[in-house]
Amino acid sequence: MGVGVLVTTRPSSAQWVYRNLSQPQGMMHHMVLRSAGGDTAALRKARGAFFTPAPVARYVTEWAVRSTTERILEPSCGEASFLLAAVDRLTELRGTADDGQPAALDGIEMHDASARAARTLLRQAGVAAKVTVGDFFCVEPTASYDVVIGNPPYIRYQDFAGLARARSREAALRAGVGLTNLASSWAAFAVHSALFLRPGGRMGLVLPAELLSVNYAAEVRRFLLQSFAHVDLVLFTERVFPDAQEDVLLLLADGYGQGPTDHASIYQARNAAELATIAAGRTWTPPSPGDKWTPSLLSADALDAYTNLLSGGGFTVLETWGDTTLGMVTGNNKYFALSPARVADLGLESTDILRLSPPGSRHLRGLAFGTAALNELGRNGSATWLFRPAGEPSPAGWAYIAAGEAAGVNTAYKCRVRKPWWRVPPLAPADLLLTYMNANADTPRLSTNAARAAHLNSVHGVYLAPKVRKLGKALLPLASLTSMTLVGAETVGRAYGGGMLKIEPREADRLPVPSEAVVQAASERLTNMRPKVAGLLRSGKLIEASKIVDDVLLVGELGMSRPDVRVLRDAHAELTARRVARGRRGTD
Ligand SMILES: C[S@@+](CC[C@H](N)C(=O)[O-])C[C@H]1O[C@@H](n2cnc3c(N)ncnc32)[C@H](O)[C@@H]1O
Repeated sequence: MGVGVLVTTRPSSAQWVYRNLSQPQGMMHHMVLRSAGGDTAALRKARGAFFTPAPVARYVTEWAVRSTTERILEPSCGEASFLLAAVDRLTELRGTADDGQPAALDGIEMHDASARAARTLLRQAGVAAKVTVGDFFCVEPTASYDVVIGNPPYIRYQDFAGLARARSREAALRAGVGLTNLASSWAAFAVHSALFLRPGGRMGLVLPAELLSVNYAAEVRRFLLQSFAHVDLVLFTERVFPDAQEDVLLLLADGYGQGPTDHASIYQARNAAELATIAAGRTWTPPSPGDKWTPSLLSADALDAYTNLLSGGGFTVLETWGDTTLGMVTGNNKYFALSPARVADLGLESTDILRLSPPGSRHLRGLAFGTAALNELGRNGSATWLFRPAGEPSPAGWAYIAAGEAAGVNTAYKCRVRKPWWRVPPLAPADLLLTYMNANADTPRLSTNAARAAHLNSVHGVYLAPKVRKLGKALLPLASLTSMTLVGAETVGRAYGGGMLKIEPREADRLPVPSEAVVQAASERLTNMRPKVAGLLRSGKLIEASKIVDDVLLVGELGMSRPDVRVLRDAHAELTARRVARGRRGTD
């Protein structure tokens, strides 16, 4: 999807729609002509054609264009929102003196009618601009512009396929940026746009806020910090384009070819109207350049508390405790995961089955998952056994295999590709289990796998390093309940349909958790409070449990002030509420 629209109510019958893009005092007004004929909403969506509201184009352009002689490019210019803003900006810079045209005012647009409309509008604004029709990815970068400004198309990978995607990936590769097939079109656009800049040039783009978070954009984040001397981001707390699906941010990158920088400066505005009065920025230095930039969504105080804890040694990332890996993939959970009653009915032997943490993760919301809990689930009909003969199946095992073949289970993709089809690839029981999908206000939970159960891919297994295994099994699930880890989960994980928070193993590696030394030092107090925390979790009181762990670890052990802890707690509440609210709107 592209960003929101300047003209949302184009009458489809009208050939042209006139809009008055009013400017704040002191700036000029002009009438803008927008084409509507021959185009449809579906066609516009397919090429990511959503036009930028004037205040946004104006803000970016005023930042980027600094002299009357600059060479300016708007790639994917649509109907030239940015070039028109540049005309105003240049007039303003020129004052009353007439030093003629800028060195270049160029646009590229693949949609012929939009390009024609852009030319008309620019001509009406009294400038000789060059708008070329073509695929931006086929244009050889010239490294000659002072300024590249615009709003690239945001076409999701599902709709961005074939030659178009291949060309975009090739273009990004020219800048040394490898993009996967999951990348939306904007990622390659941003990279390719930079290649049009001369050394020292500036790039101002409207991009989806997912630049901060999605894994496929890691290479883009790295590229930006690597290539530019300054990277500024303007984030919006409200939706700028209410009619569009996408949250956006402004990327203002200065000093092309004069990087690297290790940080981005973050500015926050409520909405487009408030851009003019934007507050002072703050700095976010990601631990490594490709890391997610989502912590920049935190308030200035929360970001300080978060970065201080991470850099102070009291907190580390989960990866330093152990490896997080995907659970077993059976190919057909209904067939392979069995309740005790079903195992008894089938007459399976103990050599045919393995103890299993049943599919789903609702039972993993406490500190530990032990045999008593597993047996209780089994008695209630949950699938606490996995059909997985280690050696020769029993006669009942063979009968069940034959039944599976009769039902076609052996033809399911994952079964078909392994030999024999009924032997699910084994995984050692994990030390800890980490929930993968977390509904609404919940957070990814760690629990000790005291039952030593096998687990499926609805949860991840954490295999602790030998040196910290004993301590981690005893106390890491409890110690990972601080507000710091809760905030961390919102920033390393990602919002999923319906407002769920999903965490992949690679993301879990980056989850902030207390360091071994801190957990060791507080082990007695943590052990003593365990029954109380377990009780709170049993009654669904995650935040209350988190508060008392905060008291012991953040305040008691790490000497953090209570107001600072409060800032983190509020930040968690805010990020969670934001995720859940977006999920409700069904837009993430
Ligand atoms: C989000 S709109 C932005 C238009 C304009 N820059 C603005 O901000 O109002 C994206 C534009 O990119 C154009 N486009 C999509 N893919 C393109 C490509 N590969 N090369 C050139 N233009 C493209 C679409 O036709 C559409 O006009």
